[in-house]
Amino acid sequence: MSEKLTLALSKGRILKDTMPLLDAAGIRLLEDPERSRKLIFDTSHPNVQIVIIRASDVPTFVEHGAADIGVAGKDVLMEHGAQGLYELLDLEIARCKLMVAAPVNPPEVRGRLKVATKFLNITRDYYAAKGEQVELVKLYGSMELAPLVGLAHRIVDVVDTGNTLRANGLEPIELIGHVTSRLVVNKASMKMKHSIIRPLIDQLGEAVAARRKGAA
Ligand code: ATP
Ligand code: PRP
Repeated sequence: MSEKLTLALSKGRILKDTMPLLDAAGIRLLEDPERSRKLIFDTSHPNVQIVIIRASDVPTFVEHGAADIGVAGKDVLMEHGAQGLYELLDLEIARCKLMVAAPVNPPEVRGRLKVATKFLNITRDYYAAKGEQVELVKLYGSMELAPLVGLAHRIVDVVDTGNTLRANGLEPIELIGHVTSRLVVNKASMKMKHSIIRPLIDQLGEAVAARRKGAA
């Protein structure tokens, strides 16, 4: 294995919030991925490159060793499962909650509860643990629409300010878990590229602690 390190990130909030942490570890992107159609980027660090992929694809890239490390939300990691990767650091960014939400004045549910979500595994496990049998409706986004058009009685999605739920006449009713983004590392890379990964984790850990101290 080469000592070149590939880091997987997604555009949007994870890229934006991870960049200052990487900066503290001496890793700067040489161009802005938000303004480029490229998917692979060099950095100021000669041995680190960054691939830009969908947020939900990060665990797959890291598990298969297509990326050595990555940043992914705990929601995405719970949905994917922990096989093939280590979750080594809570970056304390992209903070939100995984919630069950329902219409503010829900109509009576006749028959089996229908739940729309892109988090099929999480939702199945959540209701199974409660001993409730539900019908899952797989969506890829805009879950909030589902109860409004009769596609489902409930949704499971991430909630931050609650504005999206409110704007659609919904409210959070049950907390499934707290979510932040985590640094994940391929198991083989952790062994083979220890000399480059370990210092990077330490520097990122220090940057997270400094940020927390600054925020307190
Ligand atoms: P994909 O493109 O793979 O469907 P996505 O659109 O959910 O993923 P993002 O919206 O960039 O990707 O979200 C990335 C991560 O940020 C999520 O996995 C979650 O952990 C967190 N997140 C999502 N929405 C919010 C929010 N409104 N506030 C804070 N964090 C959020
Ligand atoms: C996420 C999530 C919710 C919203 C919650 O969507 O899917 O719709 O944020 O945030 P809020 O509680 O602050 O309103 P996002 O903003 O990522 O848009 P997306 O649907 O394009 O992923």
